Amino acid sequence: MTDRSNLDSTRNGLEQCKQSHLLGFWEALGPAERDALLIQIADLDLAQIPTWAETLVKNGDETPIEPGDFQPAKSYSCQPQTDADRDRYAEATRLGQDLIAAGKVAAFVVAGGQGTRLGFDGPKGNYPISPIENKTLFQIFAETIKAVSDRYGAACPWYIMTSPLNHGATVEIFESNDYYGLGQDNVLIFQQGTLPNFGTDGKILLADKSSIARSPDGHGGSIRALQRSGALADMKKRGVEYLSYWQVDNPLVKLFDPLFIGLHVLDGAQMSSKAVIKCEPKEKVGNFCLVNDKVTVIEYSDLPDELAEQRNAEGELLFHLGSIAIHIINTDFIEKLNSEDCSLPLHRAVKKIPHVDSQGAVVQPTEPNGVKLESFIFDALPLAAGSIILDIDRDEQFAPVKNATGVDSAESTRAMMIERAARWLESAQVEVPRRPDGSVDCLIEIAPSFALEQEDIQAHRDEIPAIEPGDSIYLA
Ligand code: UD1
Repeated sequence: MTDRSNLDSTRNGLEQCKQSHLLGFWEALGPAERDALLIQIADLDLAQIPTWAETLVKNGDETPIEPGDFQPAKSYSCQPQTDADRDRYAEATRLGQDLIAAGKVAAFVVAGGQGTRLGFDGPKGNYPISPIENKTLFQIFAETIKAVSDRYGAACPWYIMTSPLNHGATVEIFESNDYYGLGQDNVLIFQQGTLPNFGTDGKILLADKSSIARSPDGHGGSIRALQRSGALADMKKRGVEYLSYWQVDNPLVKLFDPLFIGLHVLDGAQMSSKAVIKCEPKEKVGNFCLVNDKVTVIEYSDLPDELAEQRNAEGELLFHLGSIAIHIINTDFIEKLNSEDCSLPLHRAVKKIPHVDSQGAVVQPTEPNGVKLESFIFDALPLAAGSIILDIDRDEQFAPVKNATGVDSAESTRAMMIERAARWLESAQVEVPRRPDGSVDCLIEIAPSFALEQEDIQAHRDEIPAIEPGDSIYLA
């Protein structure tokens, strides 16, 4: 039986934020449905709802971007430019290696998204991507973490953030693959939070008569989820101080990059980023800018055209640093954000949201009909006491699988995986067959256990067979 005073106070709270309709089907609900609905309502941040509804949902306001306010950000180049740079990079690399070996770095992937654009059924991390062995993204990451852990003789725990959309399926994948040999203790899978979905009139939508339509709260939700799930406490127990953060869609990511970690630590940074040099003004990546001298990411859709097109005297884009969503984040920075109850700004996305209408009829919209809200991890960058950017060679480290076809698709990612493997082999004087247009004329796949980076190939030179056009060469 629902407690009467609980129901009354819920009704009151909803009235005050103009969301009374959430109890509109109360009389038709059974006891279990009533309880479930009250729990969901209790989980809403009722104090915030009127502001969200008025500003973000109805008016579509986000913090305005004033073009004069921001400048292009600066970066460390992937290749040191001067002798002083070379010394600093060498020092940083040594420091990064020491920190990994001391177990102070953990892997953290955000994998709570829906992967709608890819049209793949199930967690995106289970997408088979490697060119010969068809290894999934999760398997490639797991093998990389295992290889790093073996190389440095260190525990390298892996934290994986899922969402209610894919948590159960993700856990099942790891269980059925015996945690890819990493040991269950070293893999922590936890869920992010959710936020309610709104109709364009500012009313929260009901998914059915007893449940609120909700969606994951964005990768920015990881700040809170890391704490609430106990992941942060687990890191503390293990002595982890730095997170090597990445998105689940990029199989070329260089996890535990000693240079990146070392530069970040030497500069006393709290959250740092890797970037690529953008290939066109409106490339669909976030743009690194300086706002009030703080590193800030402005999404491609929000960067005004006149700024995106600006070039310097050499003809290079002024806003040239694109975000590839790879960061180093200090665990004490995450702790601080939580202790100060610091919430990242919310962004709106207009979407098609199935729901029940006020009569209880199911609506399957064919056009966008509502607003989802989410926060972005990169909005934590300006809150960090220090932040560096390392620009890297995109062909080496960035090949995201986002779309079913075309740009950033499985096909383009596999081609980049093969091309990178070919370059690594050629750097050790292995002859790789190429077509007249320069493209690789065979399939090559290099397991992380064989090489984590180009420099590792030489040591295995004798194990590499002669390669003929059309061959499939798997090196493990
Ligand atoms: C993202 C970045 C963009 C960057 C690009 C690089 C945003 C808004 N934009 O774009 O700046 O240049 O990647 O590839 O992030 N995720 C969660 N929970 C959520 C939502 C997403 O864990 O609630 C995870 C996804 O599983 C995925 C990652 O976050 O691993 C990125 O999400 P996605 O929506 O695909 O971002 P993009 O639009 O591709």
